[in-house]
Amino acid sequence: MKFFIDTANLDEIREAMDLGILDGVTTNPSLMAKEGIKGEENIKKHYVDICEIVDGDVSAEVIATDFDGMIKEAEELAALHPQIVVKVPMIRDGVKAIKYLSSKGIKTNCTLVFSTGQAILAAKAGATYVSPFIGRLDDVSTEGVELVAQIVDIYRYYDFDTQVLAASIRHTMHIPQCAEAGADVVTCPLKPIMGLLKHPLTDIGLEKFLADHRK
Ligand code: E4P
Repeated sequence: MKFFIDTANLDEIREAMDLGILDGVTTNPSLMAKEGIKGEENIKKHYVDICEIVDGDVSAEVIATDFDGMIKEAEELAALHPQIVVKVPMIRDGVKAIKYLSSKGIKTNCTLVFSTGQAILAAKAGATYVSPFIGRLDDVSTEGVELVAQIVDIYRYYDFDTQVLAASIRHTMHIPQCAEAGADVVTCPLKPIMGLLKHPLTDIGLEKFLADHRK
């Protein structure tokens, strides 16, 4: 299972890289705005900065919602760096754009996926990744992790190449749950990743070992 970090914050990306477990980055327009990155040129430069820190795929989202606009932006984004994966929303023109971009060898991440039907369309169009948003489903009393498991089953059954990228992860337990569900990738902020380290018995055990060593 790959670990992506879901942030546009360069310090957080460096910290996750430093831990030695990072395989890629996902961003979205809200995460870019949170870092105060504005204007086309600054946004593009920020994507390149991210690519230079991490050794893996970096998702950069299109803003256009029409086919021609999405293709123009996608080609510009893909030309920025070989690690860029173009994030395209699960809408009618988004599916057409994914089909076109995959035929041109441009990697895509189909975002804002909330159902198995949408995931099937993304895979048929040739998306590199599909992003089911599990936290946002949990927010409306629907089991987000269950959707990840269902998509994994369907993709395995039909041997689709699209990788299941579990997104909108809100807490540490979502990560092992997505691993059990068979997700190819989890993307989340640094905090839930760091939460995986914690177990009180590890701390108690280590304290005892060190105390015995000192005796
Ligand atoms: C995924 O690629 C999205 O950027 C992200 O996971 C959305 O998470 P949120 O629902 O916490 O905003």
